[in-house]
Amino acid sequence: MNEQATGLKKLMAQNRGQNSKFITIASGKGGVGKTNFAVNFAYVLANQFDKRVLLIDADIGMANVHLFLNADPKKNIKNLFFGERVEDVIQKSYGFDVLLGFSGIDELEELDEVSIQSIIFDLERISSGYDYVLIDTGAGVDEKVISFLRASHKAYIITTPEPTALMDAYALIRSIYNLYGYESFKVVVNMCKNKEEGSVTFNKLKMTVKKFLGIDIELLGYLPYTNNLRVSVKNKELITMKYPRDGYSQNIRKIGRAETQQSAKRDDKFWHRLFEFMGKS
Ligand SMILES: Nc1ncnc2c1ncn2[C@@H]1O[C@H](COP(=O)(O)OP(=O)(O)OP(=O)(O)O)[C@@H](O)[C@H]1O
Ligand SMILES: [Mg+2]
Repeated sequence: MNEQATGLKKLMAQNRGQNSKFITIASGKGGVGKTNFAVNFAYVLANQFDKRVLLIDADIGMANVHLFLNADPKKNIKNLFFGERVEDVIQKSYGFDVLLGFSGIDELEELDEVSIQSIIFDLERISSGYDYVLIDTGAGVDEKVISFLRASHKAYIITTPEPTALMDAYALIRSIYNLYGYESFKVVVNMCKNKEEGSVTFNKLKMTVKKFLGIDIELLGYLPYTNNLRVSVKNKELITMKYPRDGYSQNIRKIGRAETQQSAKRDDKFWHRLFEFMGKS
């Protein structure tokens, strides 16, 4: 690890245990259930735990949160570049707020420093009004995903029991730990046959991470494979709303309960950090 990484490692260590309200949802492999988790977790935090929630679609490659929420993809963050206020591009859906369009973040390059600072200021201001800001990302170890993870102090890593998904989850953890000393990982094992498969899968990952990186990761919960989720996706409905008694919905509520037991700390510098990590300010 180089000197810069060691310094960052110290900084991250200080932030460990900090219950950040910014949560980045990531995975190594694609299609493991991040977006479904993100929209349903947002729904549960907002409606069962009375939290003010902002869900951000930061999937650069294939943004699709709007499809799950019947939101208008034309109302998105790019409009901020043309002087619109962030309040005017945030949409309401099922009791929480949604901000789309981070796939356009590269267009920021064309903006001057004053405009970028004003966007950052606007995003910091609006974020202070939420208890949680959830960030759904695309698959893989993309530079922008890494920036969101680093900025948020808390990563939820989604995997499935499939060996390839597990290997990719490990690769993501390894790369961000090795580069930046980041070690605040919480894991959700999705599409499990049963609880046992969930815990076997998590333990494999935990042991590999401990053996090769020397750090501990936490299990957030496991989610069963369920046909009700496929039906909900097809009908553009949320499983937690339509099938609240399904094991998937129940376990998302358990995760919500665990998360909300510690009160999330305010964090006024998230967007500053993010734009800096992305090399935009
Ligand atoms: N627990 C589950 N049971 C059954 N099907 C599931 C479950 N979780 C996700 N799926 C299905 O897996 C597919 C991918 O889900 P989703 O879009 O949430 O994954 P993703 O990780 O966001 O994908 P991407 O990497 O492309 O963003 C969807 O068709 C969804 O219906
Ligand atoms: Mg997705």
